[in-house]
Amino acid sequence: MSISDYIENNRHIKLEDKEHDWEIIFERIKKFKTINHDTKILEIGTGTGWLPILCKKKGISCKGIEISAQLVEYAKYFGQKYGIEPDIELGNIEGTDIGISKYDIIIATSTFEHVQYWQKVLKKVFDALKSGGLFYFYSTNKFSLISGEYNFPLYGWLPNNFRYHLRIYRQGKDIMKFGIDFNQFTYSQLRYFFKKLGFSTVLDIVDAFDPHNLNNPKNWKNFLLNILHRFKVLKHLVLFFAPGTHFICIK
Ligand SMILES: C[S@@+](CC[C@H](N)C(=O)[O-])C[C@H]1O[C@@H](n2cnc3c(N)ncnc32)[C@H](O)[C@@H]1O
Repeated sequence: MSISDYIENNRHIKLEDKEHDWEIIFERIKKFKTINHDTKILEIGTGTGWLPILCKKKGISCKGIEISAQLVEYAKYFGQKYGIEPDIELGNIEGTDIGISKYDIIIATSTFEHVQYWQKVLKKVFDALKSGGLFYFYSTNKFSLISGEYNFPLYGWLPNNFRYHLRIYRQGKDIMKFGIDFNQFTYSQLRYFFKKLGFSTVLDIVDAFDPHNLNNPKNWKNFLLNILHRFKVLKHLVLFFAPGTHFICIK
């Protein structure tokens, strides 16, 4: 998908349509971290800019880094419609200095699959967080039964080179410049890497939520979480095939 197609697919989305997604992410973060007007947040890979725009609307400081000039422009245009100017820097996170001990929270949702040298960038994220800072991560899961990246049976399971060739063959070589998922992650790979970086707490999506302390406990959710908390083998099995890898890490 080209950037223009990505923008066109998202053009109909209003800021209020993203409120719910914003609330979900921040409800999860707030279980571990207080957010106030002094909190400094960074989002890596801002897409249409909805997250930094909503943060600014709510009086929260959130800077963004985005590799696509077209998307930075679109985010400005999107924000302007609501009288908000998002603070989004144009740049490739792989070559951008994000500082040392600068942020309280760093968020990356559906971005790291596109970051070729992801290990180096995760180290950068770790360094850029203050002590006690939180990293909110969501990305691909290699063994997911359905891929959010490309509609092909067991797409994520395929070896990387095969996936790249398939995408180039079907979508043209520009896919390698924008849109390719260089990485299909696994929970065990990421858990190991986050711990190796030095995060003091590494929680997958199941660990992160105490079933007795959910903000909006729905019965089935509570029930499922209880089961997964109790039976670790089942938890790992469910996460192995889950649609994405989802972590909260505390420095
Ligand atoms: C699938 S979109 C997700 C956007 C947003 N985080 C969301 O969840 O709606 C991934 C975004 O990351 C950006 N991106 C990909 N690689 C990047 C990199 N190396 N540095 C900065 N941004 C990058 C893409 O341009 C795109 O806007």
